[in-house]
Amino acid sequence: MEKIVVANLKMNLNLEQIKLYINEIDGLINSNRVIICPSYIYIPYFLNKNYLVGTQNIASTEDGAYTGEVSASQVSSMNIPYTIVGHSERRSIFNETSVEVNKKVKLALSNNLKVILCIGETKEEKDNGLTNSVLSLQLKESLLEIDANLLENVIIAYEPVWSIGTGNIPTNEDIIEITNYIKSTVNNIYNNLVNIPVLYGGSVNEKNIFQLNEINEIDGVLVGGASLSSSKLNIIKEVVIK
Ligand code: PGA
Repeated sequence: MEKIVVANLKMNLNLEQIKLYINEIDGLINSNRVIICPSYIYIPYFLNKNYLVGTQNIASTEDGAYTGEVSASQVSSMNIPYTIVGHSERRSIFNETSVEVNKKVKLALSNNLKVILCIGETKEEKDNGLTNSVLSLQLKESLLEIDANLLENVIIAYEPVWSIGTGNIPTNEDIIEITNYIKSTVNNIYNNLVNIPVLYGGSVNEKNIFQLNEINEIDGVLVGGASLSSSKLNIIKEVVIK
């Protein structure tokens, strides 16, 4: 797969700022390899400008009486191609379990959405040597009962929780080792039938992207904080996509 950049704007920017942001990135970021994930309410502004977009989350249930939620079928009906699922902020702040993540992945795939499935270990898990076991459990639980032929619509984002928003990133060697581990774990689950793309996410910025982009094992990056700056996002895009 050619490398991609996913911009996760999280719950940031008001309408005025979003309009400014869209003006700033106009003509710079348009690419079928950059996926922008703003808050739901701003997505139509990006769709109108033909950006490739994704939601940051979807509901773990089908349509119904679930105040405040947005379903996979609603997202799909808006011609939004991607959704992030299982971001660590959802898991830690909103107590989202792997069972719910699995439901979301299934609903997304059955509604023809492409899934960016986030996994990652905490600092404590890393310090206790649990990284691999945490990642393999998250993968097994999130991908439970999902057919190999649907996996072509799944991208894994390896996002160490201790790296998100902290400015600390793993070494390239660590990212390579863990990416290979993730790919082989998914291969084991699916009897070598799939070759899953893996992104790196966590404190990616306009400086460390040069070093991160040297890693051939990753299929791109997921950018949070730095993607709020159109010029930083543009530098990252130029490095990854050229
Ligand atoms: P960050 O966020 O780039 O600000 O660390 C990444 C993410 O949470 O997806």
